[in-house]
Amino acid sequence: REPYVVTSKGHTAAAINAAAKAGEWIKSRQGQVKELGSKTSAQDLVTEVDKGVEQMIRRLILTHYPDHAILGEEGVQPGTDSVAAALEEGRQHEYLWIVDPIDGTTNFVHGFPFYCVSIALAVKGELTVGVIYDPIRDEMFVAEKGKGAYMHGVPTSVSAETVPGDSLIAMGFPPDRTFAQPANMAGLQQILPQVRGIRAGGSAALHLAYVAVGRVDGYWEVGLSPWDCAAGVLLVKESGGKVTDTLGNPYDIGTRHVVASNGKIHDYLVSSLKEAKATGL
Ligand code: IPD
Ligand code: CA
Ligand code: CA
Ligand code: CA
Repeated sequence: REPYVVTSKGHTAAAINAAAKAGEWIKSRQGQVKELGSKTSAQDLVTEVDKGVEQMIRRLILTHYPDHAILGEEGVQPGTDSVAAALEEGRQHEYLWIVDPIDGTTNFVHGFPFYCVSIALAVKGELTVGVIYDPIRDEMFVAEKGKGAYMHGVPTSVSAETVPGDSLIAMGFPPDRTFAQPANMAGLQQILPQVRGIRAGGSAALHLAYVAVGRVDGYWEVGLSPWDCAAGVLLVKESGGKVTDTLGNPYDIGTRHVVASNGKIHDYLVSSLKEAKATGL
C-alpha cells in the first residue's frame, strides 16, 4: 500500500509526519508506563507518555510553523471551564492545531490495543486538515477540507446503511460520572434495543475514523473535548458523512456533544437521543 506522505504537502504532510512519529513512540511504550497519574477523577488517567508525546508533536509542528498556535489536551488545565477558555484563546489565532497525543489513554494503560494520535488544523476556525493514526494497525486516516479523505492513498467513504436495525453504532463514556455518564447511559438504553449492536471502544477519535471508513454506521458521545473529535469530524465530513451536535445543530470546534454518521441514519440517532433526553443539552 501507499506510504502516507506521497500525495501530501505542507500542513497535511506536517500533521502526517508528526502523527507517524508520535504513534511509533507510543506503541513502543505500551506496557512500560512509569508514571500513572489522574486528572479530574481516578478514572481520568494521564501518563508520562501522553505528556512526552504532546511535547514531541508540538516541537515537530512548531519547527515548520513557529507562529502557529497549538491546543493540546495535556497543555490545558482539566475541567470544562478551562477547556472552553483555552479554546477561546486558541480561536484568536489564524492557525490553530488541535492535538490529542493519545486518544484512548485508558486503553493504552491497560494494553487494550485501541488508541490513536489525533491532529487537526483549524484555519480561522475552520477545520482544514485532520489526521488520525492508529499505531497498532498502522492505519493513517487523512482528511483535507474540500479534497476528500483517504487511508494510505485510498479514498474513504462512509457506509450506505439506511436501516437503524441493521446498523452498528459506536459510542463512548468519558470519565465524568456526574454529567456525561447518565446522559450516555440514557442514550445507550434507548438506542441499543433498536440497532444491530453497540461498540464502546474507548477512543472517540478512532470511532470517528471508523465512521469515515464505514466500519461503523454512526457514533455519538456526550462530554467530549475539541481534541477528541476535531480531526475525526473532518474525516467523517470529507468521507461523505454528517456531523452535528446531539440536537442536530452544525458541529463547531467547541461542540462537546457529538453525533456523527453516514448521513442516512443521522436523523434516527438525533431523534433517539432527544427522545431519551440524552443530548446533554
Ligand atoms: C477519551 C477517549 C474516550 C472518550 C472520552 C475521551 P483520552 O480521550 O476518547 O473514548 O470516551 O470522552 O476523553 O482522555 O483517552 O484522550
Ligand atoms: Ca485524557
Ligand atoms: Ca481524547
Ligand atoms: Ca488524550
